[in-house]
Amino acid sequence: MQLTAQQLKQFADEGWLFLPDCFAEAEVAILRDEAECIYAENRQEVWREKTGAPRTAFAAHTYNEAFRLLGSHPRLIRPVEQVFGEHLYMHQYKINAKAAFEGDVWQWHQDYGTWARDDGMPEPRAMNIAVFMDEVMPINGPLMLVPKSHKHGVLSAGHDVETTSYPLWTLDQETVTRLVHEGGIVAPTGKPGAVLMFHGNLVHASAPNITPYPRRIVYLTLCAVSNHIRKPTRPEWIAHRDFTPIEPVADSALMDYAQSHKLAAE
Ligand code: SIN
Ligand code: MN
Repeated sequence: MQLTAQQLKQFADEGWLFLPDCFAEAEVAILRDEAECIYAENRQEVWREKTGAPRTAFAAHTYNEAFRLLGSHPRLIRPVEQVFGEHLYMHQYKINAKAAFEGDVWQWHQDYGTWARDDGMPEPRAMNIAVFMDEVMPINGPLMLVPKSHKHGVLSAGHDVETTSYPLWTLDQETVTRLVHEGGIVAPTGKPGAVLMFHGNLVHASAPNITPYPRRIVYLTLCAVSNHIRKPTRPEWIAHRDFTPIEPVADSALMDYAQSHKLAAE
């Protein structure tokens, strides 16, 4: 899958790009099933909300076959390779739950702020590419993005270790207000299988989910190989040290896996 010149321009100008209908329902259904099994496990990679509901599962591409295939999927790898013009490695991998009724807030932040401060990543030549596993609606805690905010570099931030169960470098209200005045806020919504990519410096957040509708999203953080992290402080399963270039699998790999899994269950 190649991005068009117009899509590349939108990414450069606005800092984000939405690609609906990237994955078929059968491909997403197997990911949803596997995510539930992972959330049910008692392992260090699964972080929970203060209530105990799952918040995020790290590094699933290293211990789950379906998520391994997604982590090397050409529909995700190729567009990001195109933007950075080089091979990529996986810096981080998260399955965020935003559980029904209990999914908590992600405060306003920039991802690259954390990758620079905590992991020693030299440049914002990494980005998140998100795969919706559930329908993302205006009501169930969609990701909110501030268009154009990626043009402001790394903004000063405070380390919030109290608001949620997950420490985050967060932006103050004055900064967010100033950036929103310029760029507004968008909250891309869409069906399971949609994909959203956004610049490492794009300011974003999401509100708590108080609805009965879960909002599970997988985030691949893909980093240009030459931009690998230099001074990691977080565990290996949060900020990976394997800088091997990702070799994309076949486009049909996840569908083939989903079908073989279905046959085995029958
Ligand atoms: C993130 O910003 O890393 C996650 C936000 C979300 O899943 O809502
Ligand atoms: Mn983020």
